[in-house]
Amino acid sequence: MRGHHFLVKLHSASLRSRFLFAILIWVALGIGGIWYSATNVFTRHIEQQYHDELYGHVRELSGLVDIGNDGQIALIRPLSDPRYLESMSGFYWQVTVDAGQTLRSASMRHGLLDDNVAHSPQVIHMIERGPTGPAITYGFTRRVPDGRVIHYVIATDKRYLDQAIAGFTRELTVWLIALAVALIGTGFLVIAFSLRPLGQLGVAVAELRSGRREPLRGKFPAEISPLVDDLNIYIVENQAIIERARVQAGNLAHSLRTPLAIIADEAERLSDDPQSEVHGASLLRQCDIMVQQIEYHLARARSAAMAKTSGRTSLLPDTFAPLLGAMRKLHPDKVFDLGSPAGMEMKVAVDPVDLSELLSILLDNAGKWAASTIAIRLECNDDRAAISLSDDGPGMTPKQMIDAFAIGSRFDLTKPGSGLGLAIAKDIAEVYAIDLRLETNVAGGITARLAFPDVPR
Ligand SMILES: Nc1ncnc2c1ncn2[C@@H]1O[C@H](COP(=O)(O)OP(=O)(O)OP(=O)(O)O)[C@@H](O)[C@H]1O
Ligand SMILES: [Mg+2]
Repeated sequence: MRGHHFLVKLHSASLRSRFLFAILIWVALGIGGIWYSATNVFTRHIEQQYHDELYGHVRELSGLVDIGNDGQIALIRPLSDPRYLESMSGFYWQVTVDAGQTLRSASMRHGLLDDNVAHSPQVIHMIERGPTGPAITYGFTRRVPDGRVIHYVIATDKRYLDQAIAGFTRELTVWLIALAVALIGTGFLVIAFSLRPLGQLGVAVAELRSGRREPLRGKFPAEISPLVDDLNIYIVENQAIIERARVQAGNLAHSLRTPLAIIADEAERLSDDPQSEVHGASLLRQCDIMVQQIEYHLARARSAAMAKTSGRTSLLPDTFAPLLGAMRKLHPDKVFDLGSPAGMEMKVAVDPVDLSELLSILLDNAGKWAASTIAIRLECNDDRAAISLSDDGPGMTPKQMIDAFAIGSRFDLTKPGSGLGLAIAKDIAEVYAIDLRLETNVAGGITARLAFPDVPR
């Protein structure tokens, strides 16, 4: 169950963690295997060396023992290895005669080797307790002509062997850890290098979404470039489909206009007749709603059709200059105050036509209801751009500020209008993920705030 869980997790893991997982397993298996086999080979090798040496020593020892005329045994000369002379060096020998005479190496100041090791003419070895800890002990017996049995024993502390193995293992471990670190490090580099095109693709798609670049461009590896080509084709087709849908919506709305005008005309006539007055009025109301809907969709289709040729980013000077000229003509008695020229360098990821339409709706409302002045402020910091439009008019109640975005809602019938402006504005804002909100400002008027999702560089 757990393993299954893990597999599911790995399945949804990023490419980077998949690669990393594979490299870790690979390195662990490889390095672990090398470590295991190298220590084994070394241990076997050095053990063999020790045993060969000790075997030779016990043979030499037996050759050096001489039985005197008095039956006493003695060594003709010391063993050739000087370590048997150094006191408690860990290298010992011992020769024992059945009757009790015992010769020991000079190194063995105290303690005793176990005779039992040497109990047969064959050379036997085992780990025994020696004078300075566990020892590898070799021994065999030989019968001399007078019938006595002589036991020859040679011992070397096992710690020498252990130390050699431990030293080798330590050094090997350090080197293998260094190798593992180097392998994992290069693994990281390889992952970063081979996943770079995907990162670039991500950037290209993000740029595409924010309107900084239109088709996905750039050199991509052979595995990815078909995907990029398909994506580009898909984008073009998608745009075409949207365009067609908009045109059709516009055509539909347009084609309904004339029949609707006739129906409205009939309804008018009905409402004039006292007999059908109620029905006529009801019909007329519904006709009004339908007209609003149609006008709204026609307006959207029109602006979309214009947007077709334009790019996806707008530089604010280009957008504001013609807009303010038109607004000053439309509302000649109002002051449109555009502050902070610094913010004018601001670029936003919105189609210029859509942005003009959005701003003109808000500016027109501000112009219609302001008492004297409309203040336009641009804010642009590292990753956020915002525009605020404040008028000093009568403002709205909180409920009206919410309802104002509905198609056809109008609260002040003394001013001309169709009640479509804010509905369209909200529509445009939603397409570009712009945060559009109305607030009451200190002057009691309305501040419309636009916060853009990101700033193209
Ligand atoms: N700046 C404002 N100050 C006061 N009231 C406003 C302001 N902006 C909008 N309103 C109110 O919200 C209503 C809806 O505005 P909206 O722009 O959608 O329609 P409109 O201006 O009446 O008509 P249209 O914009 O379609 O010509 C307005 O009729 C008005 O009552
Ligand atoms: Mg309006």
